[in-house]
Amino acid sequence: MKLAVLLSRVRQDEKLIFEALTQRGVEFAKVDDRELVFDLTDPAATTQGLTASTSKMVGRFDSVLLRSVSQTRAQTTASILAAAGTKPVNSPATLATCNDKVLTTIALVQAGLPSPRTLVAFDPESALKAVEDIGYPAVLKPPTGSWGRLLSRVNDRDAAEAVIEHKDTLGSYVHSIYYVQEHVAKPGRDIRIIVIGGRAVAGMYRYSEHWVTNAARGGHGVNCPVDGDVGRLAEKAAAAVGGGAVAVDILESPTGLLVNEVNATMEFKECTAASGVDIAGALVDYWLEVARQ
Ligand SMILES: Nc1ncnc2c1ncn2[C@@H]1O[C@H](COP(=O)(O)OP(=O)(O)O)[C@@H](O)[C@H]1O
Ligand SMILES: [Mg+2]
Repeated sequence: MKLAVLLSRVRQDEKLIFEALTQRGVEFAKVDDRELVFDLTDPAATTQGLTASTSKMVGRFDSVLLRSVSQTRAQTTASILAAAGTKPVNSPATLATCNDKVLTTIALVQAGLPSPRTLVAFDPESALKAVEDIGYPAVLKPPTGSWGRLLSRVNDRDAAEAVIEHKDTLGSYVHSIYYVQEHVAKPGRDIRIIVIGGRAVAGMYRYSEHWVTNAARGGHGVNCPVDGDVGRLAEKAAAAVGGGAVAVDILESPTGLLVNEVNATMEFKECTAASGVDIAGALVDYWLEVARQ
């Protein structure tokens, strides 16, 4: 089997993956996503490989583990690889759903899973109406993005008007979709569960003084057991977005657990440290299983 890991840069997470592959005696290539050139119009050339070494990846590899830092690169590469007969992990469908919070929420709601009340609007005036309808505090998020970037919690109409006007005047294209959510009064933490191949393998509570608890923003991880309700909910959420190897964010609301989002290009080093689970090993075993199919 010919396997490759697609990378932008080698983070701690990728080092853990390389170690797990080496421990298993698996040979693999590392492909830098900055060097890729795909020929979409000539499948033969794409499949057999062009002169540049990295362009050969479609023809040469049975499966590719997508570890690009950029969600859009991972998603685009997944589509191209899948069309050329190379199995990407995760699948293009899972990546497309998870990389867009609107599509994620649709998938969760369709699967009947509890998630925070969310409204979507396209125009500053209707966005303000959506915020007022949700009530204060309300949360505004860009539909694509991660690491808690550009999330806003607005506590009153003045703040809502300011954030909406800034998005309208200064925001890039993604800010033209207003994703407006109820603020969940969570207990100073949220929950991240890693689901791989349908099974919740590890979890952590992320504690933070800040309402945005992402580990990338300083959230502090503590082991969260996955054998109870939270693990089952995460497994259902993973299935709802198309399965694969994903990280499910769950919020504890006063009325019960809510699925916040699902990440398909997951970072797992904090959860590895907090839970003591060899997540990289589980990810690699899953990848090898998919590659063999
Ligand atoms: N509706 C909400 N109510 C309360 N906290 C929230 C809400 N949405 C997000 N958060 C907090 O912000 C963090 C980041 O939000 P999230 O939707 O996961 O965006 P990102 O894709 O940037 O991680 C969450 O982990 C959670 O701590
Ligand atoms: Mg998140």
